[in-house]
Amino acid sequence: MATPMLAADRVSKIYRTPNGQEVTAVADLSLTVDEGEFICIVGASGCGKSTLINMFAGFIQPTRGVVTLHGKPITTIEPRCGMMFQQYVLFPWKTVRHNVEYPLALRGVSRSQRRKIAQRFIDMVQLTDFGDRYPAELSGGMQQRASLARLLAGDPEVLLMDEPFAALDAMTRQVLQEELLNIQDKSGKTILFITHNLDEALTLGDRIIVLSSRPGRVKAIIENTLPRPRHVSAQLSPEYLALKARLWAEVEEEVNRHVQSQQAEK
Ligand SMILES: Nc1ncnc2c1ncn2[C@@H]1O[C@H](COP(=O)(O)OP(=O)(O)OP(=O)(O)O)[C@@H](O)[C@H]1O
Ligand SMILES: [Mg+2]
Repeated sequence: MATPMLAADRVSKIYRTPNGQEVTAVADLSLTVDEGEFICIVGASGCGKSTLINMFAGFIQPTRGVVTLHGKPITTIEPRCGMMFQQYVLFPWKTVRHNVEYPLALRGVSRSQRRKIAQRFIDMVQLTDFGDRYPAELSGGMQQRASLARLLAGDPEVLLMDEPFAALDAMTRQVLQEELLNIQDKSGKTILFITHNLDEALTLGDRIIVLSSRPGRVKAIIENTLPRPRHVSAQLSPEYLALKARLWAEVEEEVNRHVQSQQAEK
């Protein structure tokens, strides 16, 4: 069997709080992601989604088990796995253009090349006329677009996206989802995308991984049989509704378990 692009092999993550308590965020979790796949991860709040993606980025290390990129353990911040967060993290003192150029500057790309490459990604996310603006001058949707352009300019092999569109209004979110699908079609990038939104998962993901409530384990893997391109209009088809019902049934159980465990802790 070919080595998967990304894998988690029996991974557990136990945090220790400042008062000495242990919190098992992820337990014995295994999954594989193949090159070019678009994977969505859904699960109740606090079930360990960010923990998992942070391990793939190399920001934190598993307590047990191993996460790998091309079969090699990820033991430090992994530049081949680029991360995008829920809130934009642009440098406020740099213009959009200089933010997007930043990962290129880190790699020592010349100034003129940097400018050319950055412009391509600024155009791709439809910010052509906003390159010289500062983040504070942009709307939330535009700031996330600029973050996406910067992520793409870094040319990571894997895009790790932790609820990147969660703070956006529904319409902007829909437009960005379609843009991301287009970008993935063209670039063939591997994407691991966390979301709470089942419609978002079904629009974007080729496979949808449902995690159990804490500690996170893989509860179900749902193949998205809806054909690409998955335009929003697909959400009206009977196949879509059937898939959404299946997905909701898996998620609902975990959300209820999560609510019950929170009540028990009170
Ligand atoms: N640094 C930390 N120290 C102690 N506990 C932590 C730490 N980071 C996360 N946790 C706990 O681990 C569990 C999983 O957190 P995580 O942020 O991975 O969840 P999540 O699925 O991303 O949640 P959400 O959907 O709300 O973003 C939670 O119970 C959280 O409180
Ligand atoms: Mg999270």
